Amino acid sequence: MFHLGWFGTTGPVNWLAPAGAVYDWRKPEIFQDVAKLCERAKMDFVMFADSVAIPALFQGSTDYYVRNGFMIYHDPVPTCAWMAAATQRIGLASTLSCTFYPPYLLARMLGTMDHLSGGRMAWNVVTSTKGGENFGMEMPEHDERYDMADEHLELCRQLWDSWSPDAVIMDRENKIFADPAKVKTVNFKGQHFQCRGPLNVVSSPQRHPIIIMAGTSPRGQQFAVRNADMVIAHKNSVADMKSYSHQLRQKAAEAGRDPKSLKIFYAIKPVMGDTPAEAEEKWQRHLASGDVDLGLADLSNTLMYDMSQFDLDKPLPKDLKVQGIVGKLLQYTQSQGHLTLREIAKHESLKETFPMHGTPEQIADILEHAWREGGADGFHFRQMFQDYGYLVDIATKLVPVLQKRGLVRKEYSGTMLRDHLFEF
Ligand SMILES: Cc1cc2nc3c(=O)[nH]c(=O)nc-3n(C[C@H](O)[C@H](O)[C@H](O)COP(=O)(O)O)c2cc1C
Repeated sequence: MFHLGWFGTTGPVNWLAPAGAVYDWRKPEIFQDVAKLCERAKMDFVMFADSVAIPALFQGSTDYYVRNGFMIYHDPVPTCAWMAAATQRIGLASTLSCTFYPPYLLARMLGTMDHLSGGRMAWNVVTSTKGGENFGMEMPEHDERYDMADEHLELCRQLWDSWSPDAVIMDRENKIFADPAKVKTVNFKGQHFQCRGPLNVVSSPQRHPIIIMAGTSPRGQQFAVRNADMVIAHKNSVADMKSYSHQLRQKAAEAGRDPKSLKIFYAIKPVMGDTPAEAEEKWQRHLASGDVDLGLADLSNTLMYDMSQFDLDKPLPKDLKVQGIVGKLLQYTQSQGHLTLREIAKHESLKETFPMHGTPEQIADILEHAWREGGADGFHFRQMFQDYGYLVDIATKLVPVLQKRGLVRKEYSGTMLRDHLFEF
C-alpha cells in the first residue's frame, strides 16, 4: 500500500473565488473541517507550508505580494493545535525554519504539540531562502544553512532525549514528580548553538516529532539522509521519481541507515472529473488560468531574483546566478532552456510538476503505476487548502477507488503519526 498526505497553507490563497464558492480563509472552521475530512479518508497527515516574510523581490517591493494576498500566512503551529483538538488520528505537520527559530524554543514547542496531539506532530524542516530582514540578520549561504540545520537538529534531538520516557514517576507518597537521574543536562556547545538543557517539557508520546524534509539539492539530500523520517519531492515523471528514489535509498544505505526508515513522498495535483470529457474540460480551464505576473512573482521569490527585469519573450540568460533554489533555475536554463520567460512564468503559476487529469479510476491507474515503477512510499496532494470541494472529491471519489484496489489503508491501525508512517 502507499501513504497519502495533504499539503495546504494557512493564508488567503483563493480569496478571489466568488463568495460562497470556498470557505472564507479567516474563519477557522475550515482548518478543522479539512483535518476531519483527511482523517475520514485515512490519510497519514496534513502539512502546512510557511514563510516568515513578505518578499520584496518582484518589482523590487512587497507591493505585488500584498496587493494579491500572496505569501501571507497565519502561523501554522497554533493552527495545527486547533486541528488536533478536533481530530484523533490524522498527523499534523508544520513547516518551521531552523535558520530563525532557536533550537530550545522549537524543541519545546514541538514537544508540547506532540503532547497536545497525542503523538501526531511532524516538523517540515526548512532552512529558508529569505526573511533575514525580519530578524536583523544576513542570510547565510545555501550549504552553510544546512550545516546550521544539522547542528540545530542534533541539539533538538538531545533536548527531546533529555527526559527519559520513564522519568516522570509522580510518586505522591515520597513527593517525587520525576527522577532526576533520568533527566539529563545536554551541555551542547556547537559552532552555531549552545544550550545547557534539559528541556522543561517531559518526553512526548513520539519522543521526537516526525521529521520531514523537502530539499533536493545534493546538500539537502545529505541532510535528509542524516535527519529525516520522510522526504517530499516534486518530480516531473515516473522515470525521474524512480531515479530519485533509487539515489536517495542508496545514499541512506551508504550512511548506514535502513533505506526503509526514510519514506519518500511525491507531490501530486490531479485534476479530476466524473467523466473523461469533464476531466478534459477542467484541465483545459486549468491550463488557461496560467497568470504571467503571478508566475513571475512566484519565481522571483523562489530564485531570490527580480524576474521583472528580463524580456518576457526570450529565454532566461544561461549564465544567470541566483541565491535561491538553484535546481529550479537549472530546470529553465538547461533541460527546458528553450522556453521563453512568458512560458516559464505561466508554467510556474500553474505549479504543475507531474501533470495528470482524468476520472478517479484513471487517476488511480496513474498513481498505481507511479507507485510501482517510481519507488514512491506515498503521494502528497498539493492543492490549495481553501478549495474544500477539491478535497471532498479526493476524499469521497478518489480515495474509495484506491481503497477498493487495496492501494491505501481503510483504517488506521495505530494512533500516532509514526505508527501510520511505518505501518507499511
Ligand atoms: C513539497 C515542498 C514543500 C515545501 N514547502 C516549503 C515551505 O513551506 N517553506 C519553505 O520555506 N520552503 C519550502 N520548500 C522548499 C524546500 O524546503 C527547500 O528549501 C528547497 O527545496 C531548497 O532546498 P534544496 O536547495 O536542498 O533543494 C518546499 C519544497 C517542496 C518540494
